Amino acid sequence: MKIIITENYDEMSIKAARMVSSQITLKNNSVLGLATGSTPEGMYRELINMYNNKEISFNDIITFNLDEYYNLEKDNTESYDYFMRKNLFNHIDINKKNIHIPNGMTEDIDYECINYDNMIKSKGGIDMQILGIGGNGHIGFNEPNINFEATTHLVNLTEDTIEANSRFFDSIEEVPTKAISMGVKTIMNSRKIILLANGKGKAEAIYNAVKGKITPTHPASVLQLHNDVTLILDKEAAALL
Ligand code: F6R
Repeated sequence: MKIIITENYDEMSIKAARMVSSQITLKNNSVLGLATGSTPEGMYRELINMYNNKEISFNDIITFNLDEYYNLEKDNTESYDYFMRKNLFNHIDINKKNIHIPNGMTEDIDYECINYDNMIKSKGGIDMQILGIGGNGHIGFNEPNINFEATTHLVNLTEDTIEANSRFFDSIEEVPTKAISMGVKTIMNSRKIILLANGKGKAEAIYNAVKGKITPTHPASVLQLHNDVTLILDKEAAALL
């Protein structure tokens, strides 16, 4: 694992955006795996700036998001579909047909999940996957005690995650309790992985991911087995390393 420790959130975001832009420069039709949540928002802002400054184009880029809430309409302002449009897709030249986000409103979960993994394979696999990390060590929505062999599947969110995500909803009762998420195996099949984390609330999860035993109890610890992972952390998230 390569670990980059930055002074603060802004520096973390800029470094991450530069890694993504280098990937796009090297391969203009890269397949990017994308995350939602508070952590990558700054990185998306930087990428939009780079696009506006004509440094990069997303015209041939293909994206696959990590996850989507189950049973939440795409136009709900808390859906990950909405998040991606608001924080990135509406501001860049990406071709809409190249955007993939699990369909949380599907009536056929098994088909949706198998088809999502098949679509990733049919595009040649993910070149660069961006990850955040949950305070409980989840990546995507692969919660503690996940099967490392899992591909895209329906997950039950843990109480920790529901509580953490309730900051975006009017009340905790409105937070969906299930999501469709790429599995650990799907994530591990990516050629490069960039994990971002900031703030002291992530320090223990980062410690377990980097120095802890490789165990499904701490899903992010599986990343120790991947041969091209870069962690970009602010000082607080790196504090226990
Ligand atoms: C988001 C995702 C999650 C988040 C994690 C951290 O697509 O898959 O694993 O990356 O919950 O969320 P934030 O960044 O809001 O702390």
